[in-house]
Amino acid sequence: MDISKDIELRIVGIGSVGASIVQAFAQSGFTVYGIDIDHQNIVNGLKRIERDLDNLVLKEKMDGKEKEGILSRIKLGTELDSIRNADVIIEAIYENMDAKKDMFNTIDTLVTSREALLLTNTSSLSVSEIASATNRPEQVSGMHFFNPVPVMKLVEVVRGALTSDSTIDRIKDLALLMGKTPILSADRPGFIVNRMLNALFVEAARIVEEGVGTVEDVDIGAKLGCGHPMGPFELFDYLDALPLLEHITDYMAEELGERFRLPAWVKKLVEEGKAGKGIKKFYG
Ligand code: 3HC
Repeated sequence: MDISKDIELRIVGIGSVGASIVQAFAQSGFTVYGIDIDHQNIVNGLKRIERDLDNLVLKEKMDGKEKEGILSRIKLGTELDSIRNADVIIEAIYENMDAKKDMFNTIDTLVTSREALLLTNTSSLSVSEIASATNRPEQVSGMHFFNPVPVMKLVEVVRGALTSDSTIDRIKDLALLMGKTPILSADRPGFIVNRMLNALFVEAARIVEEGVGTVEDVDIGAKLGCGHPMGPFELFDYLDALPLLEHITDYMAEELGERFRLPAWVKKLVEEGKAGKGIKKFYG
């Protein structure tokens, strides 16, 4: 199966990233079917996509007709069975190995085409272990997107232990057709980008903990001194995913060393339910 904009494409898991992936594919001309077993996620996902597109219309980046064209290429539903005739499935459910393995086992059972690509948007977990839940590990790979997906130009392609060259080539083709640049990572925790980014997050939090600088000054330093579009704390807030960040950094600390462990003050925020948007509110 060659990659083209006519492939049968399914995104499984319509949380904030899943919805953003659906939007990015539809904006680049693909017809895409997003599936989530929780109907509320479908409702929220569609709202999020409509809001983003409305903003683009308001900013005169697109007109109403273009917006309607994009929405007409998006189908959302709760029926996992609809992945049966898919050519490419991208899993974007929550970051939990058991849940991902269960999902891949189901996908493997349902999808009929032996050529289909079974991809995971995992941010850090082992692609090889996820692939072990299927009978076709050579067609399983990571395809990792970055927030906000319609804007960020990168896709990380993660090669599992048994991923075939043809799978890697086809994911690269898919990324290029979306107007994105693919990079290839080995299957190590955090891959290339989250390994760099989490090191930055952890060090920024340590700088605050040690009283070297304030949250505000760390952010200004990253922006004006390093040319980053956002400071690390601003990015914490933007991603609205501090519990996920804690989960990923704990996993990376276990696999790669304590240098990836978030300092106690950030972990306390997560425990107190103050995570998500607002880190600057508490420590700014
Ligand atoms: N959908 C479509 N287009 C969008 C959009 C969206 N959700 N959000 C912004 N845009 C467009 C805007 O229309 C604008 O287009 P233009 O360049 O044609 O004018 C462009 O993107 C820039 O947006 P804005 O002017 O509104 O805002 P900024 O210039 O401040 O940029 C930003 C916003 C792109 C978010 C920028 O601040 C940025 O790059 N921040 C860093 C993001 C980042 O690091 N992401 C990676 C996070 S890590 C990750 O995702 C991995 C995961 O595993 C956790």
